[in-house]
Amino acid sequence: PFEVKLASSGKCYTIPAGVTVLKVLNDAGVFVPASCEQGVCGTCLTRVLDGVPDHRDLYLTEEEQAANDQFTPCCSRSRSATLLLDL
Ligand code: FES
Repeated sequence: PFEVKLASSGKCYTIPAGVTVLKVLNDAGVFVPASCEQGVCGTCLTRVLDGVPDHRDLYLTEEEQAANDQFTPCCSRSRSATLLLDL
């Protein structure tokens, strides 16, 4: 498990194994636009302000993934204990 923190509200959400960031946020009433939910379309792309995403998408280039400043919450996870998101 890891946590995501939202920059706007300062709220933290725990992401359990097997549950996507997208689902946890949607269930909490935080709307993130999404479409494919498979890491292909890029609709859910979200800016990362701090932390290191564990990229599982097929949308970003290797260079974009390595920059650690955006990720796809429909499928990607975190290598750090917390991801600070620009939401
Ligand atoms: Fe398509 Fe996340 S919804 S990449």
